[in-house]
Amino acid sequence: MTRRRLSPAPASLLIMLAAWLPFLPMLAMDWPLSNLVLMQGAAALLLSRWFRLPLWWQVINTGFFPLLWLVYQADIEPIWFLAGFALLALTSLGSLKTRVPLYLSSQRAVEAVAGRVPAQARVLDLGCGLGGWLASLKTRRPDLVLAGVEVAPLNWLASRLRLNGKAAIRLGSLWEEDLSDYDVVYAYLSPAPMAELWRKVEREMRPGSLFISNTFAVPGIEPDETVELKDLSHARLLIWRR
Ligand SMILES: C[S@@+](CC[C@H](N)C(=O)[O-])C[C@H]1O[C@@H](n2cnc3c(N)ncnc32)[C@H](O)[C@@H]1O
Repeated sequence: MTRRRLSPAPASLLIMLAAWLPFLPMLAMDWPLSNLVLMQGAAALLLSRWFRLPLWWQVINTGFFPLLWLVYQADIEPIWFLAGFALLALTSLGSLKTRVPLYLSSQRAVEAVAGRVPAQARVLDLGCGLGGWLASLKTRRPDLVLAGVEVAPLNWLASRLRLNGKAAIRLGSLWEEDLSDYDVVYAYLSPAPMAELWRKVEREMRPGSLFISNTFAVPGIEPDETVELKDLSHARLLIWRR
């Protein structure tokens, strides 16, 4: 594991497991678990900083096992776990199939796009999540005609309510969307769909239109422009002009 090569999620998993290694003998000697989870959290913090993970990954890695222990100690009614699972299922269960989880664009991603989009352009957010990126874009650029498509029912509902009258929000798969209707298509997905998505972009997007991917590259296809966002997740926008 080099300091920069691994992306934050697998690096975090390895770090959280590695942070247990020095404490395994104490675990075997029945040291109090409350002390061990705190020491493991401190070790995970040091490793996360050493590997220069983004701040919020440092927080997750530090707090994961201490919080797990606290939850285990608390006398929580099982119904709350069921409610948590239902919430997770309605927002994210589809990601087992799509391999695209829910996480949100930063304000910097909105500002960077708002400064590059032509007047009155039709903009589509592929997988619009909770509608935050579209809502902020509308605030900065009221002239734009906005649309979003979202496959997870609860995310779609949140977007639909949030953007009522400001953007057309469709419940369904991004693969059924006709990209030729748009001047700008924005996607913040994952590495998994990018090669196939690029084929769709090539088939459907009109000359002069923009395809913008937050963070995730298209294998083998260099973008025309890369914009470093300098936000907490070290995200960047990759922009292709068709
Ligand atoms: C990383 S989030 C991005 C949310 C939002 N666009 C933003 O930038 O803040 C990706 C979203 O895409 C949705 N998604 C994943 N695959 C999809 C698909 N095939 N069709 C429609 N939405 C999809 C997920 O449910 C999730 O809400």
